Amino acid sequence: MKPINVGLLGIGTVGGGTFTVLQRNAEEIARRAGRPIRITVVADKNLELANKVTQGACRVTDDAFSVVSDPEVDIIVELIGGYGVARELVLKAIASGKHVVTANKALLATHGNEIFKAAQDKGVMVAFEAAVAGGIPIIKAVREGLAANRIEWIAGIINGTTNFILSEMRDKGLSFDAVLKEAQRLGYAEADPTFDIEGVDAAHKITILSALAFGTPMQFERAHIEGISKLDAKDIKYAEQLGYRIKLLGITRRTPDGIELRVHPTLVPSKRLIANVEGAMNAVLVQGDAVGATLYYGKGAGAEPTASAVIADLVDVTRLHTADPQNRVPHMAFQPNQLVALPVLPMEEVQTCYYLRLRVEDEPGVLADITRVLADEKISIDAMIQKEPGEGEYEADLVLLTHLTREKRVNSAIAKLEKLLVVKGKVARIRMEELGK
Ligand code: HSE
Repeated sequence: MKPINVGLLGIGTVGGGTFTVLQRNAEEIARRAGRPIRITVVADKNLELANKVTQGACRVTDDAFSVVSDPEVDIIVELIGGYGVARELVLKAIASGKHVVTANKALLATHGNEIFKAAQDKGVMVAFEAAVAGGIPIIKAVREGLAANRIEWIAGIINGTTNFILSEMRDKGLSFDAVLKEAQRLGYAEADPTFDIEGVDAAHKITILSALAFGTPMQFERAHIEGISKLDAKDIKYAEQLGYRIKLLGITRRTPDGIELRVHPTLVPSKRLIANVEGAMNAVLVQGDAVGATLYYGKGAGAEPTASAVIADLVDVTRLHTADPQNRVPHMAFQPNQLVALPVLPMEEVQTCYYLRLRVEDEPGVLADITRVLADEKISIDAMIQKEPGEGEYEADLVLLTHLTREKRVNSAIAKLEKLLVVKGKVARIRMEELGK
């Protein structure tokens, strides 16, 4: 049967993996897709690398724009990343009537609305399984496998770099800076790790999952984003003593007042499966009203795990490209005219539980002062531990866990606590999620 022709933009780690897996499993993939999937041209600025990977098996060029308008190409695979030239190339490919497969979460979270509208108008598919959690088929699960459900919330470890760093901090009792340096030396963290460690990469991914779960446009600019760079190893240790692990979670939740969309370090009960996801692995927990909780686990990055998702999309597009566009799976899970612009709640309105650590003078009346502030803000305390002052010290760490409360009450309480003479320095605050029901 006539092969379907693919133009591959970018032959870095994921592009190379895609090339290799497509070649290695060509026969099996053709049996699934109904026809061979053939990379006919690869575009990369680094021609030497492109030639080295492809070994003469296809054309090679350094001009990606020539590929997106190449009449021989049916599907464009965009693995360049970023929102600059990648956006232009994707829009140009769509305008040329080509289907697109992309791993580019930054692009979809920030320009997805524009891209899906263009694709809809042109009757082409934009597939993006590899954009969230690498090899885990979470897009397919949320968009198709859970289509019966009213999804209530999603919480995911969707950045491997930060999960690796947190695991190492916990295991070895090291500081964030020390582990980051080691991760960079080993190649686990990028030379510029800002997007990963500051939570931006996770926010791109939870933005996409949120839109698919609730049938809304992408609302990345409304996401609350906090990374792990200010996390103190001490809090990881204290959390553990209280039966919790700290994970960088992407969380999105439906509430009567709007949607929560947030990324931040989070205490999770140690007994939850997701709390035990260690190293660079990813995991996504989805709560649906009919199915209950489902958990998806696997590699969120790397050449072949991500290629697995890219190629699954290629198979999907190959199977569906002759189908009438109205009868394909909608890009955003809900029919395009059924998207609802549910508001994203400001972080101040989010309700959750909190871990608070205060450095306090070790003298009578201190606890009374602190609990008075919390009581005034109607914040109820769930648990408390006081660490003994060290030899010759007059200050101690006091750790409090709160019941469910509103973020603005905690902000206000922290401001008051930091003004108390008996409280020294800043109050450390980490949000806490039971992730039960
Ligand atoms: N940088 C990402 C991570 C992988 O650390 O998980 C690609 O999304």
